[in-house]
Amino acid sequence: MEKITESIFAVGVNDYQVDLFEGQYVVPHGMAYNSYAVVDDKIAVMDTVDAHFTQEWLDNLSQTLAGRKPDYLVVQHMEPDHSGSIAAFMAAWPEAKIVSSMQAFAMMKNFYGTDFPERNMVVKEGSTLELGKHVLTFVAAPMVHWPEVIVTYDSLDKVLFSADGFGKFGALDVEEDWTDEARRYYIGIVGKYGPQVQALLKKAAGLDIQKICPLHGPVLTEDLGKYLKLYDIWSSYGVETDGVFLAYTSVYGNTRKVVEALAQKLRAAGCPKVEVADLARTDLASAVGNAFRFGKIVLATTTYNTDIYPFMKNFIHHLTERNFQKRKVALVENGSWAPLAAKVMRTMLANCKDLVFTDTTVTLKSAANADTDAQLDKLVAELMA
Ligand code: FEO
Repeated sequence: MEKITESIFAVGVNDYQVDLFEGQYVVPHGMAYNSYAVVDDKIAVMDTVDAHFTQEWLDNLSQTLAGRKPDYLVVQHMEPDHSGSIAAFMAAWPEAKIVSSMQAFAMMKNFYGTDFPERNMVVKEGSTLELGKHVLTFVAAPMVHWPEVIVTYDSLDKVLFSADGFGKFGALDVEEDWTDEARRYYIGIVGKYGPQVQALLKKAAGLDIQKICPLHGPVLTEDLGKYLKLYDIWSSYGVETDGVFLAYTSVYGNTRKVVEALAQKLRAAGCPKVEVADLARTDLASAVGNAFRFGKIVLATTTYNTDIYPFMKNFIHHLTERNFQKRKVALVENGSWAPLAAKVMRTMLANCKDLVFTDTTVTLKSAANADTDAQLDKLVAELMA
């Protein structure tokens, strides 16, 4: 139990057992499912935790409340990592009411068979819940990250309970850089919904926020401008880091050699940051995060069964489904008899907004030859322009 303010307490849990968060993201440092108790004349609990941790969470709550009973359970988001212990809460405290959006109650019935019709309070944008000195105001945040999501502002302590927003992978007792794991989390999970996040940021700009309490990752208490700025960049598909990200696949190492030569030339030309990823041997979510981090990307792959190599195909699919846009893109293709990887990649990216392809596309027929170096130099000049 951690004290966030004099009357707001963190009561969530750490999960070190999860192998893949949401069934697809590696979380080498575990995951935190946060929950908070706002203790006043009345007590509100903000969200529950994953069903594997129900008892630990109920124990945290009981210890924090020291014999008092919660009056309200506020459900900001219905994804099971947060809603998995609703039924246990409602059973443990039969006089408590459950507070959420209309859409969340519909989901609750679908997930858990009941929306607690005798005990529920439906709230919407601008609704308030008075606890005493604390007054909670609910703000609709559709698609951050599901349609039913609300976030909550406490005007007494100037705290924003931000649901999945401003979350990161990793348990709370892990010391690691916030930005990399928050980017991997944001781009992977919410990246498709940039306009909706922008809408929420505009609403948040009208509030005096001193602390952000997300449902994953640490409570943010200082330098909030840094986090808000990163969210503004990510959700507007802006450039976070000046430089080039080179993503490649290679069957026998020939494409890799050319990508490494290109990276070397970019560094020699003064490119501020060059990041290289072998898509077959790197975490996909990190690579996807880097594609949205940098303003320029090089995609290098082989022609394969009149298509492209599967790791690159999957990677590009992950980009397009997250509305990849506003980037300079260079293509490197390899093909031993009929190279067409560049054409396939270009077609896959055809519906992305505001992509600028370099004039130079590097084509290899199995391996680098006498012309390759000159092609790479041309490409470097375009990427550095
Ligand atoms: Fe952490 Fe969208 O659930």
